[in-house]
Amino acid sequence: AVLPASRLLLFGATGDLAQRMLIPSLFALHAEGLIAPELRIVGTARSELDDEGFRQVAAKALETHLSADARNPDAIPGFLERLKYVPLDASRPESFSALSQPLGVEHDQPIAIYLSTAPSLFGSTIAGLKLAGLDGPNVRIGLEKPLGHDLASSAVINDAVAAAYPEERTFRIDHYLGKETVQNLLALRFGNRMFEPLWNAEAIEHVQITVSETVGLEGRVSYYDGVGALRDMVQNHMLQLLALVAMEPPARFGPRSVRDEKLKVLRSLRPIDRATVASHTVTGQYAEGAVGGRAVPGYIDELGRASNTETFVALKAHVDNWRWHGVPFYLRTGKRLPNRHSEIYIQFREVPHSIFGSRGAVLQSNKLLIRIQPEESIRLLVMAKEPGLDREGIRLREVPLDLSLTTAFAGFRRRIAYERLLLDLIEGDPTLFVRRDEVEAQWQWIDAIRDGWDAAHVVPRPYAAGTWGPSAAIALTERDGVTWHD
Ligand code: BG6
Repeated sequence: AVLPASRLLLFGATGDLAQRMLIPSLFALHAEGLIAPELRIVGTARSELDDEGFRQVAAKALETHLSADARNPDAIPGFLERLKYVPLDASRPESFSALSQPLGVEHDQPIAIYLSTAPSLFGSTIAGLKLAGLDGPNVRIGLEKPLGHDLASSAVINDAVAAAYPEERTFRIDHYLGKETVQNLLALRFGNRMFEPLWNAEAIEHVQITVSETVGLEGRVSYYDGVGALRDMVQNHMLQLLALVAMEPPARFGPRSVRDEKLKVLRSLRPIDRATVASHTVTGQYAEGAVGGRAVPGYIDELGRASNTETFVALKAHVDNWRWHGVPFYLRTGKRLPNRHSEIYIQFREVPHSIFGSRGAVLQSNKLLIRIQPEESIRLLVMAKEPGLDREGIRLREVPLDLSLTTAFAGFRRRIAYERLLLDLIEGDPTLFVRRDEVEAQWQWIDAIRDGWDAAHVVPRPYAAGTWGPSAAIALTERDGVTWHD
């Protein structure tokens, strides 16, 4: 059995992600008694703070970023007491000896390390951890994205990590896997008898996955430009969603089974390459417009220079296996779109024969809509008889069977994805983390698309902020007689 960590060493402890997500999540785990009293959290970053200074930073983060229902003032002092801080220059491995005293690790006590720093620092950070002896069999390491920008650069990072930590102790984070509704996808598919027999090309006509955001560049210039939507969102979150939708039933909810099944899907993705990139992908970049009634500048204006980075991408993918033969998976994500939502939309095939005749009864095919955010819901669109005594026969209409998970689980707090992931890292359960072979399969598929774009000198098409991307994205599906579900 894997023992829970008694130390959490957090790199990038004063950074944006730590403030917004990690510290509030750790506090929630503390306040609910989910982490052992002896768990000590050692933060490190470049800032010259002492323990007290870091506690102030953390207190401020809780004040600013804790949701109202996670507030629990009585628990704050106890949480802050767990915190320690070591200023560290991650580019100087020899300085890492400063960690040993605040960590205060006794023989073989499990340690969880979390790297929420620029990946350019991963190499020297790992060298430093090794020098400080923090690479023993009792240590596991969590890595925040981006892990490289293509297959080759991700391999460099993964090799550097692998030189110190074996795969089973390497926890690659894709925060979408920590979201409750994403896990609910597994519950829906494999906790119910009724979906699985229909979950295939026989019954499903196509699948759409949309992750739309209203935010723009938001000061992330140095990271986002040159990266773009394909690498930022599709390579990780969207392909993981696709894998969860398309995978075969794993034998159990455990790290090996779940990740083996996802990997098979990722490896079955039909490559989109130079020959097909033009017909299967559309890229866009937002121009000025209005989102939520507010005028916003275009990407280039925010950036202050010319750029061909895509802030929107739509594409048509295929999973080349028996189950999904001929079923398109349409993926779409972008910044500065009309609203923020993530959803999976599954359109079933039409009934093979209508007994109702054509009058008054145009049969719509069933649709299953799984909303991941902002609200969590599952909606099944079914045909029902419209009430009335129509002489022309039975009149049918499409109506929703609606399940709001928020209502069904009223009284449960809505959690940050990182609560789950941090707890699993502390406890050593890698089921919801991404294995190296998955990451590499993802990059391989993405690299072919990028290569196709480069070869064809693809330039993203402008779209007005607050719209659903360039019109070519609509044409991408309309060609197949499919409409994006908004
Ligand atoms: C991150 C991307 O991984 O996911 C961001 O880098 C994006 O660009 C974010 O905004 C979206 O996450 P969520 O949880 O808000 O859907």
